[in-house]
Amino acid sequence: MDAGTWIVESRRLIDQWILDDVAGMGSEKGSVEEAMQYSLTAGGKRVRPQLVLAGGAYVGIEPDRLKPAALAVEYLHTYSLIHDDLPAMDNDDMRRGRPTSHKVFGEATAILAGDALLTEAFVKMAELYDLGFPASGVVKAMGTLAYKAGRQGLVRGQIQDLASERQEISVKALQEIHEKKTGALFEASLTIPAQLVGDDQAAFELGRFGRHFGLAFQMVDDILNVVGDAARLGKATGTDAGLGKATYPRLVGIKTARSLLSEHVREALAGLDPARAGLLDGLLRFAAERTW
Ligand code: IPE
Ligand code: IPE
Ligand code: MG
Ligand code: MG
Repeated sequence: MDAGTWIVESRRLIDQWILDDVAGMGSEKGSVEEAMQYSLTAGGKRVRPQLVLAGGAYVGIEPDRLKPAALAVEYLHTYSLIHDDLPAMDNDDMRRGRPTSHKVFGEATAILAGDALLTEAFVKMAELYDLGFPASGVVKAMGTLAYKAGRQGLVRGQIQDLASERQEISVKALQEIHEKKTGALFEASLTIPAQLVGDDQAAFELGRFGRHFGLAFQMVDDILNVVGDAARLGKATGTDAGLGKATYPRLVGIKTARSLLSEHVREALAGLDPARAGLLDGLLRFAAERTW
């Protein structure tokens, strides 16, 4: 299967997994479950679960066996979006083409839906043991996800992102923000499959790829916030400038941001075994050229 077809097919598969999983949650009006379903089924590119599956292909794991890990990273990502949009953070009204969670359900339910998605991610990760992966691999993968999501990863990046609003910061400091708020979960998504099968060399190669991929991905996010189409993106544009966010377009301009992006795309691919990197290469190119 060529990478373009795989991207479409794997997104369809992940969407179906999510639909099947949320169907079992129940959805009383105004409940946390309804809020979880609302954000999970609003669409989304599903890049992180695709990275789990593509990382799995790199180390020879069938997609079905990675379903819990794929759901885990998408749930964790969706929590981060719900909280990112809250008035105390980026204060956004639109996400994935719909009004943001707190606009529909109120802040308390949106916060709790995020909390429930974050914790549900680890319920899913524990299910990997039932699929026959060794306990040592499951524990390692769970630790990686927790570490990369927490105070040394995504949460740290979000803290620094907020602290840098309207501040002059260096490009190095900005890179660290992007590595943490976005790159860390990309790294985790890619490292998890290799850790599940105890392949340390592949975990290193995939983690390194994920770091560059995450940086490139957030650079595109920054660029699209300036030049993108809000309807296509499903979220408002111009908001980074409005909040004085530290972004690549603000610090170095769009043109330099684009050339840094190309550098990270090249760097990302440099450390992979080319014979096994087809899907990863395709996903990276899709992400670098995306308009949504
Ligand atoms: C948005 O992520 C937040 C960033 C880390 C850039 P995505 O662009 O992957 O959002 P969805 O999942 O497709 O909505
Ligand atoms: C993305 O932050 C990082 C996380 C949500 C963890 P942004 O604030 O840059 O992403 P968008 O542009 O709102 O999607
Ligand atoms: Mg943000
Ligand atoms: Mg935001």
